[in-house]
Amino acid sequence: VTAEKAGFDHFMLKEIHEQPKAYRDTLSSRIDASGTRVVLDEVKMSQDDIRSIQQVHIVACGTAYHAGLVGKGIIEKLARIPVETDVASEYRYRSPIITPNTLVMVVSQSGETADTLAALREAKRCGARVVAITNVVGSSVAREADDVITTWAGPEIAVASTKAYTSQLVAFYLFGLYLAQTLGTQEAGYIADVIAELKRLPEKVERILEQADTIKNWAEQVATHNNLFFIGRGLDYAVALEGSLKLKEISYIHSEAYAAGELKHGTLALIEEGIPVIALATQEELLEKTVSNIKEVKARGAHVFGLNAEGETELVKTVDEVFAIPHTLQLLSPALSVVPLQLLAYYASLARGNDVDKPRNLAKSVTVE
Ligand code: G6P
Repeated sequence: VTAEKAGFDHFMLKEIHEQPKAYRDTLSSRIDASGTRVVLDEVKMSQDDIRSIQQVHIVACGTAYHAGLVGKGIIEKLARIPVETDVASEYRYRSPIITPNTLVMVVSQSGETADTLAALREAKRCGARVVAITNVVGSSVAREADDVITTWAGPEIAVASTKAYTSQLVAFYLFGLYLAQTLGTQEAGYIADVIAELKRLPEKVERILEQADTIKNWAEQVATHNNLFFIGRGLDYAVALEGSLKLKEISYIHSEAYAAGELKHGTLALIEEGIPVIALATQEELLEKTVSNIKEVKARGAHVFGLNAEGETELVKTVDEVFAIPHTLQLLSPALSVVPLQLLAYYASLARGNDVDKPRNLAKSVTVE
């Protein structure tokens, strides 16, 4: 068993450390020799098919749904097509407005989740084209979708998904760029810049992993609490939702992820002396606004753990502790900022003496609706 875990104490930690490789493998052979264009041979859509897309629906469950929330930001920014992201068990029963010009994307690590599969079938019944992002070649989702973008994360054993989620993000970056190339919605130079930054992600994840001790220290502080908040704006909010889920799943500490600007419209009343708040502030455009939301929780006694981009100097003046993620394009920051949050969940679970890889009541793949 130790051999299977390659010397790591848990599959989750091993899988967190496999993310640089998962990034390389998911990118490899999908970028042309010049490094300026995405090649997605597995997507069989013609140029006309792509031009006819009027809306995209992203449908998934759990962590894959959270990848879909980032996917919405990616596709809307790169391809300027409206995107809705929904959980599969809701999507199916709300008579979604699916036309032949709707592209439905289903995201599933296992490719066997019953709710996701049912949503895929409903989408096809309504005449939509379905593109799947899945980690398992030959899975039900892979077999039934029209096009499949495989994430090459390798087998994921821990119930809490890590490398599958980050590989799903890469699949969205590739697909978003692919749409943008065809639609002409982005300058060639910008597309080349995004590709160059994608290739730098593995080395940047390594740098985060080298600083795991800082996050372990945060986790030991967090593990003494029963409630906390994650806040962020824009893509940081999507990552906050995933960070909060990860922590809940394996540490059993209750947390809530809130859009930073929305706190004052609701849950600010729950901020009291000493409560930990994990604040994501990697989106430069939104930094000033996020900082003012952090001041709102600081004024009420919160202990704030901040995530910012390396080189940024404002956040440190406001928060109690800060962790810098290596600098990248704002659009790509989720692919890095989630890594410290995965480590936070891991070490908090460990500090509480839980079974990290097999949390109570959860299954790796849920094949009932
Ligand atoms: C289960 C797992 C989650 C996972 C979800 C979707 O509930 O516990 O970690 O995110 O299923 O799984 P999928 O294989 O479809 O990505």
